[in-house]
Amino acid sequence: MVRPVSCRFVGPVAASFGTADSNRTLFSISRDAPLEHGSVLIPGDGIGPEVTSAACRIIDAALLNSGSSINWIECHAGVTALERGHADLLPQETIDAIQKVGVALKGPCTTPIGDGFSSVNVALRKTLDLYGAVRPVRSINGVKTRYEDVDLVVIRENTEGLYAGIENEITPGVVTSLKVATEKASYRIARFAFEYARSRGRQKITVFHKANIMKMSDGLFIRCSREVHESEFPDIEYEELIIDAACMRLVQDPTRFDMLLCENLYGDVVSDLCAGFVGGLGVTPGANFGEVNAVFEAVHGSAPDIAGKGIANPLAITMSGVMMLNHISVRSGDPAVKVAADRIKVAYNAALCEGDRTGDLGGDLGTEAFADALIRRLG
Ligand code: NAI
Repeated sequence: MVRPVSCRFVGPVAASFGTADSNRTLFSISRDAPLEHGSVLIPGDGIGPEVTSAACRIIDAALLNSGSSINWIECHAGVTALERGHADLLPQETIDAIQKVGVALKGPCTTPIGDGFSSVNVALRKTLDLYGAVRPVRSINGVKTRYEDVDLVVIRENTEGLYAGIENEITPGVVTSLKVATEKASYRIARFAFEYARSRGRQKITVFHKANIMKMSDGLFIRCSREVHESEFPDIEYEELIIDAACMRLVQDPTRFDMLLCENLYGDVVSDLCAGFVGGLGVTPGANFGEVNAVFEAVHGSAPDIAGKGIANPLAITMSGVMMLNHISVRSGDPAVKVAADRIKVAYNAALCEGDRTGDLGGDLGTEAFADALIRRLG
């Protein structure tokens, strides 16, 4: 019998676990002392272990000799958690570890289609109340696509909508799925989006909706967004578009958009659509924020079609790692972590421009070889 495996604390544990509070204490001591920031690492399923391992290697290399480091606390979720002997797809100790350090880098977790268990990803976001998903979509030098100069951010409400997963069989052959919209969550995500816009110097937010049909649920969502705009952020341009026509405008010219604010399901679909503008799922990072905790994960899934082959692009999860480093830097005040994030950006831009790419981008490098190519350019 496989015995349950506890979260693996990599490196010295107790003193450097790195809760938000202990980090504050660390930063009041001399900057000459090495700083270790805790982050939970969830390899996930399918290509998850391959791409997260490559991303951690890149992040560690970027921090080498900087005086700062990441203390990766490996925990599990998804099918991998069961395979490792846990009783649950989302073990309590994984949740506890994230709550302790406040930050995680997460690989994708598989969800069966049609039947079987419900989504571990949705459960994690709900349990930690990670209500705001941020998915930046930017054209990358060296990745040629049909579009140029795309630079937009999708903000997705992460906790309700049709993703509430409340489904009923009324009678054999008749099922319903309940769409949930609350004022609390709608005001909260609208405020999150506008605050993000203000802090990043973004000019405009476009809300995608279908309030002509779902007058109550999507109607509530846009009413709350409009109110937050008018009362608190009148300086940021605001627009509402019905989602079908909005998608047509998106593919006609994505550069006319700055930030998109979407309820849960629309945000899910639109994120993948937007990934197609800039080179696909291999280059689209993401983050899920709550009031206290943040989990960084790529937009892509576990890609069972290429899992275990060593060919997955580790860039999306590495870019999510860059977002994580920036978050840690802001939260802790440690500039070395921000410097490492910037170095990784410069390195992957150089690697892609000089033709080092994985197969999804038309190149011939495998996961590890691309990570090596990036590390060589860290300078
Ligand atoms: P997917 O994103 O896993 O794959 C879609 C296509 O993109 C596949 O052809 C795949 O090979 C390719 N792809 C994805 N990531 C890639 C990468 N890094 N490098 C190169 N190619 C890449 O979506 P799919 O197939 O719909 O879902 C597979 C599983 O992942 C499902 O169980 C789904 O529920 C789960 N999933 C999990 C997510 C998460 O953990 N946050 C997000 C999306 C899906």
